Amino acid sequence: MPMRRAKISVIGAGNIGGECARSIAMKELGDVVLVDIANKDKPELHMPKGKALDLACCGPVENFDAKITGTFDYKDIEGSDVVVVTAGVPRKPGQSRDDLVAINAGIVKNVALNIKQHAPNAIVIVVSNPLDAMVYVMWKATGFPANRVMGQAGALDVARYKTFLAWELGVSVEDIQGLLLGGHGDDMVPLPRRTSVNGIPVTDLLPAEKIQACVDRAKGGGGEVVKLMGTSAWYAPSAGTIEMVEAIVRDKKRVIACAAYCENEFGVAPGQKGQGLFVGVPCVLGANGVERVITFPMDAEEQKFMNESISHVRDLIGVTRKLLPDLG
Ligand code: NAI
Repeated sequence: MPMRRAKISVIGAGNIGGECARSIAMKELGDVVLVDIANKDKPELHMPKGKALDLACCGPVENFDAKITGTFDYKDIEGSDVVVVTAGVPRKPGQSRDDLVAINAGIVKNVALNIKQHAPNAIVIVVSNPLDAMVYVMWKATGFPANRVMGQAGALDVARYKTFLAWELGVSVEDIQGLLLGGHGDDMVPLPRRTSVNGIPVTDLLPAEKIQACVDRAKGGGGEVVKLMGTSAWYAPSAGTIEMVEAIVRDKKRVIACAAYCENEFGVAPGQKGQGLFVGVPCVLGANGVERVITFPMDAEEQKFMNESISHVRDLIGVTRKLLPDLG
């Protein structure tokens, strides 16, 4: 009997959603269902169907056999193994990620209720911003176990950090190992102490101010792109998302920084059952979603930055709860 191909639904067929669909097909990770509401009120147009058709016709050139469909109808996500959520508005110049909460909280809640109804066994990766709060909304509104709800931020932020370090060091990006923790804001927490070039600590290779410049550029990397393009990035965010999708559908047990549910880990909400939140931490990703959060000791300064980042995420969840009082 042939093995069943994974089914991956992507909610929001905009810049990130479209690029995610393309990468899923190119890597043959599974069949793709693209869902969007754009132009739903104009009967002559069907944006998700059009985008799916365009993407499907890359197949003969790129040699992939993945099926890509576009729809307005959430019924079509039935049986999804993974659902990627990119629905919502992106940043414009001058906006922070937090400025998007008023619009995106309602959108993500609506998407969550549809996922709960039509794909109750799916693993959900949230991409919509403000990321950490939107993952929280997804978790609350679906009621899914925490291992099946996560956010993409760390994969992207780490990729930016590694890119800038590789440029500075004049070495291949493949040889940089590094980690960033915390919320997906400009107060994310890089860990130069735990960054290396094939095991050689980066602190032995670069002066502190050069490392700090790479850290700062990674922190502001999203804003730098928004300033240049007038809207937010989509290629690298999609690449980060697909790294996570691949780890899950291929059960690779990759260690990737994701926004995952934490209580006792990294001082998020020690001993307060149910009072945790989603924040960027190293996770083992496999067929069961977030299979484990990896913890390790941080020094006093790293923990201070982490506490600040956690407190920012908690404040944003407070704002979100006011916007969605029936979230539970
Ligand atoms: P986009 O505007 O190109 O696409 C968003 C799509 O969502 C649009 O096609 C829109 O019609 C659709 N949409 C809106 N409401 C919907 C609903 N209720 N149901 C289904 N679809 C709906 O935006 P882009 O650039 O793809 O960004 C998407 C989100 O990802 C934004 O919130 C952005 O801030 C965020 N983002 C997250 C990053 C991360 O690392 N987590 C990085 C960059 C952006």
